[in-house]
Amino acid sequence: MVQYDVTVFTGDLAWAGTSNSVYIKLVGTEGESERTHLWKLLHTPFHSGAKSEFTVSCPTSLGDLVLIELDKQSYFHDDAWYPAKVEVTSPEDKTYHFPIYHWITDIEMHYFREGTAKIDDGSPLPGGYSRQQELEQERKVYCWDIYEEGIPHCIKGKAASLPDDVRFSITKKKEMAYNYVTGLVELELLEYAECKKKFTCMDGISRLFFLHRTPISEYVSHHWDDDAFFGYQYLNGVNPLVIRRCTALPENFPVTDQMVFTHSQSSLTDEMKNGNIFLCDYKLLDGVPANTINGKKQYLMAPLVLLWKTNNDELTPIAIQLKQKPAEDNPIFVPTDSKDDWLLAKIFVRSADFNLYELSAHLLRTHLLAEVFAMSLLRNLPMVHPLYKLLIPHTRYTLQINALAREKLMSEDGVFTQFAACGGEGAIQILQRSLDSLTYSSLCIPEDIAERGLNDVPNFYYRDDGLKLWEIIHSFVSAVLGHYYETDDEVQHDAELQTWIHDIYEHGFLSKERTGIPQEFTTVDEMVKFVTMVIFTGSAQHSAVNTGQYDFGGWMPNYPTSMELPPPTKKGDASETRILNTLPDVSTTVHGMGTVWLLSRPSADSVFLGHYPNEHFSEEFPLQKIQEFQDALKKLSADIKDRNKKLSLPYTYLDPGVIENSVSI
Ligand code: FE2
Repeated sequence: MVQYDVTVFTGDLAWAGTSNSVYIKLVGTEGESERTHLWKLLHTPFHSGAKSEFTVSCPTSLGDLVLIELDKQSYFHDDAWYPAKVEVTSPEDKTYHFPIYHWITDIEMHYFREGTAKIDDGSPLPGGYSRQQELEQERKVYCWDIYEEGIPHCIKGKAASLPDDVRFSITKKKEMAYNYVTGLVELELLEYAECKKKFTCMDGISRLFFLHRTPISEYVSHHWDDDAFFGYQYLNGVNPLVIRRCTALPENFPVTDQMVFTHSQSSLTDEMKNGNIFLCDYKLLDGVPANTINGKKQYLMAPLVLLWKTNNDELTPIAIQLKQKPAEDNPIFVPTDSKDDWLLAKIFVRSADFNLYELSAHLLRTHLLAEVFAMSLLRNLPMVHPLYKLLIPHTRYTLQINALAREKLMSEDGVFTQFAACGGEGAIQILQRSLDSLTYSSLCIPEDIAERGLNDVPNFYYRDDGLKLWEIIHSFVSAVLGHYYETDDEVQHDAELQTWIHDIYEHGFLSKERTGIPQEFTTVDEMVKFVTMVIFTGSAQHSAVNTGQYDFGGWMPNYPTSMELPPPTKKGDASETRILNTLPDVSTTVHGMGTVWLLSRPSADSVFLGHYPNEHFSEEFPLQKIQEFQDALKKLSADIKDRNKKLSLPYTYLDPGVIENSVSI
């Protein structure tokens, strides 16, 4: 007889253990063991966090181990079990690793491949396993659904009924016992939740805000009405995706030199030639129906904003037109107008930006796309595939957070529907239009920055940190995938990989060819670039647009969720009273604050970029690359911290130390 030493690791999660009887069968190239009961006298070997050792005996060596078969049986009551991994040492003294990281809730047989990553080469395996069967099973569990036509498809099912493998941990679940009332309680604002009164002075807003401030939200509350800070937010706020260099004024934005250079100190033509003029055009919002909140019609503008880079490298707004169509009752506001006219124009822009940003930059371009990437991965790549091993940590919690967002934010009685200018029908229209105009290149930060003409804009930390992160992620992905795909031919002939990208094209980008999203991969480089984008989108990009929500939105006048009066139709109409009557009422304000507070608060069980506590890879090469990836991220984090020491307002959202691996909040 020969003996195999079997070590079973149960996951260190709440309720991960089982008291059921666990059986294992080892499958090798030369034969199979008996199905063996793993048990210990007077012990419960499979409690949460347990590492338990057993012996499996066989008459002769099984050759190279390729598979284990696991099942559990109950005699009294069924309980779920979460095995993390199994290690087996053979009589030849070779150790085999079997990553699992799945909940086993039934009494069926479950098959787990040895950890070496493998592309399908068509060769059959001994035992009762096939890659195709694994995928067929997964496709029954993870089914596509259509939430609304014209937006990316999503997982079928409510948040509470999603498969165990993609559900929140108990810690996360407690934190996300998630409704805005929790946020209001934490912010000590619950008593104002039903108050439909208007603010009568800015001090009233300060009193609510005073209770919970972050260093950045405090800064924002002091600088929100400065022109330079208004411009700064287009680069380093939570929505760095709207601004682009302007080389010719749009026809519907007839700004003149006399309006903006009142002392003839320069001309728009010269300044555009010198690359100093920038445009933020919210045309996507044109005609989007505005919401009704607390029985009152709301207002959502589709502004055009012109900015100028000054000699001291500040980006300052020089003209604002609040509606797309130029007209006498749609004046172009400029900084030389009355203080209140100019401020009110800027507030309308900030509110438009909030609505576009939350729907497009945040929900669509990170959350909904990350869900599609995750769904396609779970349905099309078996666990042993190198791309599954690479990407599965970057899908953590994404399916559940999105199901919750649909139920708690976007549904008929969701917070967004109740308290944002575009809530309800408008929100769906913005999502549809954003997807319609989305391009692959805009998801890849090096191309996006170049296309928007922003390569040499000073003090643009989102770009500086984002490009470095892209490069670090790209090097990592290139090294790992390059190890498994030596030639373009191997990429072209990997049917599982090709189905993965095609499903993304079809279910995420609705087969819109003009997006430029690949329908297939023909080269290793194409695949590496796309996978880089997938990791960047779910980690860095989501952090850039998510983490600062309370920092920039906690002080409501800087990011009003809605506007309650129409914009002035002529200059000279604005006043402090009109501004206060235009801003959201108390109830809308505190619900907005509670929501952005919840959505940007750090979680106790975050897993940060490049950290892989679940050991899906077991070979030396990818493990070495993971180590190098972590080292590069650590260095970038130190560099960003050093840079931030010199800034009056640090830019922290792309510090790898705060970026989570996945869209999880
Ligand atoms: Fe988010």
